[in-house]
Amino acid sequence: MNLTLNVWRQPNANAPGRFVTYPVNDISPDMSFLEMLDIVNEGIVHQGEDPIAFDSDCREGICGICGIVINGIPHGGKASTTCQLYMRHFREGETLTLEPFRARPFPVLKDLIVDRTALDRIMSAGGFISASVGSAPDGNDMLVPKNNAEAAMNYAVCIGCGACAAACPNGSAMLFTGAKVAHMAELPQGQPERYQRVVAMLSEHDELGFGSCTNHGECSAVCPAHIPMSAIARINRELTQAALRGYSSATA
Ligand code: FES
Repeated sequence: MNLTLNVWRQPNANAPGRFVTYPVNDISPDMSFLEMLDIVNEGIVHQGEDPIAFDSDCREGICGICGIVINGIPHGGKASTTCQLYMRHFREGETLTLEPFRARPFPVLKDLIVDRTALDRIMSAGGFISASVGSAPDGNDMLVPKNNAEAAMNYAVCIGCGACAAACPNGSAMLFTGAKVAHMAELPQGQPERYQRVVAMLSEHDELGFGSCTNHGECSAVCPAHIPMSAIARINRELTQAALRGYSSATA
């Protein structure tokens, strides 16, 4: 395959960025998108220039680090991670525009790499169980109904890639936050801190500069873990119940 890449190049967080065009030739359709970028980088390094910086780690669709906006859609629009995107997804001769994830709380560090610490800070605000659990309990000590276990797993599969916020016109990370809140709200271990958790995580979400959800649904459409929009409905229900019990951002 032959393609043209328009790639966002930005030397560091404070320098201005610009698009640079790279012709790409003789690419196998069976290569992954990141393997194609590896080959492009080999050519760039061979010419003595700085390779395109992009994140990757597992390359198995698990870690969620490999976010790139391809032709305006996070991860390229296949609802997979970028590392699980294959070149056969594109047409011969196509021009691809590559940008970093765009959201106010995701500052660009270099080229296609952004700082997604903001998602960790939402988790730090309440996405944990603070009880001392001691040693591992016996398997059936704490019974979890099957429906709750399955619902929790549907939300626990979020890999925290940030594509939801990058796709949202409002730059909202409500799908991510909702998945984390709903995951723990479904399980008995999550009950003791259930209401202060949702208030604290949403307050942190807002303070970090993520926008509000207005139900566009772009987040769920690009989510590699297929987190449903019900995660956002769930977080709103949790927030209402928290308010009825007297929890507010002042008490979180
Ligand atoms: S590199 Fe880990 S999900 Fe893509």
